[in-house]
Amino acid sequence: MSQNEAQDAILTFENVSRMYGPVRAVDGVSFELKRGEILTLLGPSGCGKTTTLRMSIGLERLSGGRVSYEGKLVDSPADRIFVEPEKRGMGMVFQSYAIWPHMSVMENVAYPLRYRRVPKAEANKRVLETLELVGLKGYENRRGTQLSGGQMQRVAVARGLIANPSVLLMDEPFSNLDARLRENMRAELKRLQRRIGISILFVTHDQSEALALSDRIAVMKDGRVEQIGPPAELYAEPGTPAVRDFLGRSILMPARIVGSTGSNVDVSVADGQVFSVAGPIRTTSRAIDEKCLVSVRPESIIVEPAETTNVAGANSLNATIRTLLFMGETSEADIELPGGHMALVRLSPSYEWREGQAVRLTLPANKLQLWDRSATDAHGE
Ligand SMILES: Nc1ncnc2c1ncn2[C@@H]1O[C@H](COP(=O)(O)OP(=O)(O)O)[C@@H](O)[C@H]1O
Ligand SMILES: [Mg+2]
Repeated sequence: MSQNEAQDAILTFENVSRMYGPVRAVDGVSFELKRGEILTLLGPSGCGKTTTLRMSIGLERLSGGRVSYEGKLVDSPADRIFVEPEKRGMGMVFQSYAIWPHMSVMENVAYPLRYRRVPKAEANKRVLETLELVGLKGYENRRGTQLSGGQMQRVAVARGLIANPSVLLMDEPFSNLDARLRENMRAELKRLQRRIGISILFVTHDQSEALALSDRIAVMKDGRVEQIGPPAELYAEPGTPAVRDFLGRSILMPARIVGSTGSNVDVSVADGQVFSVAGPIRTTSRAIDEKCLVSVRPESIIVEPAETTNVAGANSLNATIRTLLFMGETSEADIELPGGHMALVRLSPSYEWREGQAVRLTLPANKLQLWDRSATDAHGE
């Protein structure tokens, strides 16, 4: 496979919509699943993730737009084209697993091969190979009722892979597992995907799962895609307040624009301290005196005991530790900023910390992002 082919789209959504009566469940969604990547649809419950996944395989019909798979239209109402799910040859893992309790693991996994007239001996061989791939070697004769949650999840993945699809669709496949198992499964799935090179369209509402697992994430809100990109890029440079707030915590500080130098914008925060902002400027205006918000990820703030630093450096602030939270490998603190605003920050293990301690915060200019004052989204503070 050439470099170019490695990057071409295997599944393409163009301006896809889906109405349920008056409800616009999916509203003008476009994206490409590239060959060999894990693309995750991430967003809160009800934002249209499952509907989008089901339209990929043909379990839901489009109200408008086009879906192509392997370079051919598979659903386009305007062209009166619709290809049935069985004819698309994709694998799917449902949120509920849909394991038949009375059937053996072998029968459950072999089920999709029934439509394909695969000879019995060949089918059995493939089931055994696939069970080995998902870590279930030796489980072929167990009943569905004799499996743990993690094992049922693996059976569901094996069944999704059994027909050798080039795309695997996965709808919140780990949501019924406990936290520890969920983290193991995400690492295991990514290893498996790297090994067999399958393209995965994954759905979750769990941002840490999406960040850890995906090559790219499409953040969805209200039936629309807000932003698509690699996890690190979306996390560091979110394009909208919804993306910023959905991917992790931010500290938001009210500020006012006081000037600009090159691509940097200078703002004054609560106590009149001037900060230089070198990250993305998302404000609609850069006019002097314009009210705005500065955002920063908590782990980008450098916290030092006040007595270890001398005079106020650039982009720094005095603050006080109010509450210390020991978290094992790290500690966090609730810090009171000038003006009484509270912020939860991460502390370095290189110093001793105590409640009531005076600290100095440094906010690196390139880690700061500027927003309109109204840009707080639903999760904002
Ligand atoms: N079969 C249906 N009939 C009516 N409304 C539906 C149906 N399926 C989904 N919806 C609505 O469409 C929207 C998106 O649902 P869904 O795709 O399941 O979201 P998600 O998977 O992100 O939680 C929701 O408002 C939901 O209530
Ligand atoms: Mg869903």
